[in-house]
Amino acid sequence: MVATPRLPDFAWGVATSAYQIEGATAEDGRGPSVWDTFSATPGKIRDGHTAETACDHYRRFPEDIALMRDLGIDVYRFSTAWPRVQPGGAGPANEAGLDFYERLVDGLLEAGITPIATLYHWDLPQPLEDSGGWIDRDTAHRFAEYAAITAERLGDRLRHWITLNEPFEHMALGYALGQHAPGHTYLLDSLPAAHHQMLGHGLATLALRAAGASHVMLTNSYTPAIPFSGNETDIAAARDYDALHRGLFTDPVLLGRYPDFSGFGLDSAALPFVKDGDLDTIAQPLDGLGVNYYNPTRIAAPAPETPLPFDIAEFDHVPTTDFGWPVIPSGMTQTLVELTEDYGDALPPLWVTENGCSYDIAPDAEGRIDDRVRIDYLSAHVKAVDDAIEQGADVRGYLVWSLLDNFEWAEGYHQRFGLVHVDFETQARTPKASFDWYADLIAQRREGDDAGAPGDTAGDQH
Ligand code: BGC
Repeated sequence: MVATPRLPDFAWGVATSAYQIEGATAEDGRGPSVWDTFSATPGKIRDGHTAETACDHYRRFPEDIALMRDLGIDVYRFSTAWPRVQPGGAGPANEAGLDFYERLVDGLLEAGITPIATLYHWDLPQPLEDSGGWIDRDTAHRFAEYAAITAERLGDRLRHWITLNEPFEHMALGYALGQHAPGHTYLLDSLPAAHHQMLGHGLATLALRAAGASHVMLTNSYTPAIPFSGNETDIAAARDYDALHRGLFTDPVLLGRYPDFSGFGLDSAALPFVKDGDLDTIAQPLDGLGVNYYNPTRIAAPAPETPLPFDIAEFDHVPTTDFGWPVIPSGMTQTLVELTEDYGDALPPLWVTENGCSYDIAPDAEGRIDDRVRIDYLSAHVKAVDDAIEQGADVRGYLVWSLLDNFEWAEGYHQRFGLVHVDFETQARTPKASFDWYADLIAQRREGDDAGAPGDTAGDQH
């Protein structure tokens, strides 16, 4: 077994998730997940794409590790698939599934790359959805059991763990609006799915610590809520949106309470699904907070008869990615600085665990992919992280979403976020111009770091 490399004070990396790249959905004992069911439902995924093969990473992972070695990254964030590790969502582990992650982790360590494993990136075992999914409190306990099984097997070589990825998106898209698996349209009745994910996070953190984990994080998505205008009604709407997107998934973890939900007609101190002791369980000390940042969100007062106290509006005259997402790098600085100011001493070190953009640039006659729009996006956002550090944010790492073009959920293979182009017919991988740019940036920063350049933050993160 190879020892975990020592991380620099500021780590560079890339991120992926199991369902989006692995494929092999029915192999070696993997059970079905909510995403398999959702993808098989006509009309849910653009052009009926499925992740049955995805990037075939399950078989091609050595080639993908070689690409990461060429990039020169310090850390690789991937996710373990719960239905591969524990096919029924409860009960015994699937040793073949754990074997796969052990091979992956060993390959990373041999390449000098520190693995960061996310335990849950939205692929719930279908049997758990059949008994209520995250609306059911028991799923939080099942999640802790799965965390314990995974850490017991991998914890001797894998030190860095993330419990959940973006519980806000999972609740909003999966349980409130029905655009993601499991496809429910419960609107505000989806709130138990938020609380039970938070409870699952706390219980899993305890399980990871019991198995000896030394570095545990939660990854949230963050987006500054920008009021549509200076009108009091728009400002109040932005405050309510922020309570839902940021406060709901940050306050209980860092402050041990839920934010003010009066704008939703709710008393956050008397939510019926919150039991005595839950908030203490949720507020476990963490070693870092993962920040996924893509863009800010413009918020207006709601139109009459709208069920929610806000509307989402478009920004005027800003460039957008192929996904239609506004490109506003200053939102990255704002996110990191506001977390720092608003949570103060309660805030652990920050890690940008995802940042990236979707641009579909076809290979030219020589097969090169000249994605300078991605280089522009990423360099502006790295600069925005530098600015946040200068303004006092304690940021320890920056990870690009994503290493590979991959299965972009309801958009299928239409949105390409990768530094590496994937031909989904042949599985050929071709590094894009942005790949070379990122490799150069990492090499330059590493030299600069030795001389104490920006991004050189103090403290022990190991
Ligand atoms: C998710 C990824 C997703 C990316 C781009 C994040 O919300 O964690 O799984 O692919 O954004 O949409």
